[in-house]
Amino acid sequence: MINTVPKEEIEKQYEYMKKIKDLGLEKTYFIYTMGCKLNENDSEKIAGMLTEMGFTEASTVSDADIVVYNTCSIRENAEEKVFGKLGELKKQKEERGTIICFAGCMSQEPHVIEKIKKSYSQVDILFGTHNIYKFPEMLYKKITEEGKWFDVWNIDGEIWEGVPIKRADKKSASVTIMNGCNNFCTYCIVPYTRGRERSRKPEDIIEEVKGLAEEGYREVMLLGQNVNSYKGREDYNFANLLSDIDQIPGIDIIRFMSPHPKDFKDDVIDVIASSKHICKVIHLPLQSGSSKVLKSMNRGYTKEQYLELVDKIRAKVPDVAFTTDIIVGFPGETEEDFEDTLDVVRRVDFEQVFMFIYSVRKGTRAEKMEGHIPEEIKSERFSRLKELADGMVDEGNKKYIGTIQKILVEGESKTNSEVLTGRTTTNKIVNFVGDKSLIGKEIEVRIVSQHVWYLKGETI
Ligand code: 5AD
Ligand code: SF4
Repeated sequence: MINTVPKEEIEKQYEYMKKIKDLGLEKTYFIYTMGCKLNENDSEKIAGMLTEMGFTEASTVSDADIVVYNTCSIRENAEEKVFGKLGELKKQKEERGTIICFAGCMSQEPHVIEKIKKSYSQVDILFGTHNIYKFPEMLYKKITEEGKWFDVWNIDGEIWEGVPIKRADKKSASVTIMNGCNNFCTYCIVPYTRGRERSRKPEDIIEEVKGLAEEGYREVMLLGQNVNSYKGREDYNFANLLSDIDQIPGIDIIRFMSPHPKDFKDDVIDVIASSKHICKVIHLPLQSGSSKVLKSMNRGYTKEQYLELVDKIRAKVPDVAFTTDIIVGFPGETEEDFEDTLDVVRRVDFEQVFMFIYSVRKGTRAEKMEGHIPEEIKSERFSRLKELADGMVDEGNKKYIGTIQKILVEGESKTNSEVLTGRTTTNKIVNFVGDKSLIGKEIEVRIVSQHVWYLKGETI
């Protein structure tokens, strides 16, 4: 049974936000967000609370009175980076009394907490991934009493609803539908930092998406570590949720991230096939193409099962495109295993491959496995995979030339205000010259050429 944080607790936090606002501090904040879309969505909630407290966003860290590090633990280099940044901030704190807050996945890792307690006394507030809603209370106490507020236990946590949110993107809105993960892939730290799976109630999600449509959002991205094990009720799963969101007027594009291949069931495929608004590009993390490596990763599928799933989806959803995540250099990966990965990449013909070099995470099962791969071999394999994937993406883009694509116009291109930019239903960026009144509209364009990062189109 998943507990929802009682309304009174959230109301109490609104009182703290009001109390802080009433202090009239005129402070600025800066949030440094690392990692995945879930973390970005958490940062939007932190920003929402800070705005409610009367604070404004600073354009740089050095202008900020409150700095929040919303950290990610997925790979090792992130840790070095964040500790480096904390070090840099020490001087700023001495000069202008900056309040430093440490949040996100790393704040759930015991060795990180130890390190902060021992060597990073500049950190004032530390909270986890499950209790972000308590931030106003911690900040109020920090401002009005002297002291540190470290609150991280109970990672399994609860679901909480109703905190303010300041969305970073004006066209696409992220909606977290579940938190945590029960899979324990042997390389992954997430089950330890975000606790067990817990799903939001369908009515809360639907209400949020309806609200977004009313605000003018045309696109939603449904987020969770493992979205297709979403369970809103005993008789309500991810397929039901997708189907209900597909009916919400005003929402034209529905994306989701990330599904797990082992839980990708027929009912979800059928909903995608029959839906009007679900994006036909599916992110389907492969991780490795070798059945042996997949087994030691505890992924719950073989190379063949993954390929069968791709075929099954392709048969039911014509025009579907796939993107994926791959880890190279997992302990025990032989040249032959790696060749299997390349083989799957060739066969599936991914639209995009997100590649990662295996990075040891403390406390995971893979940390203690035999056969860790030397760095040179890992990077050599990484380069080979990259070369293959880049070539395929390039070839894939060529297929678009001459076709007519439906795109949602997102805005002006960052580098040239004469050019508008949008995305195809398969998530390809399309740049074209057009009138600014097209922004926010869904239009058809003809693709005329392809470039490394985008397709070039013209209005028809
Ligand atoms: N090392 C390298 N990559 C990892 N990922 C998760 N854990 C690790 C790790 N220890 C990758 C996986 C996942 C993506 C978000 O990050 O590919 O899908
Ligand atoms: Fe990590 Fe595996 Fe869970 Fe994804 S499904 S968050 S890779 S444990």
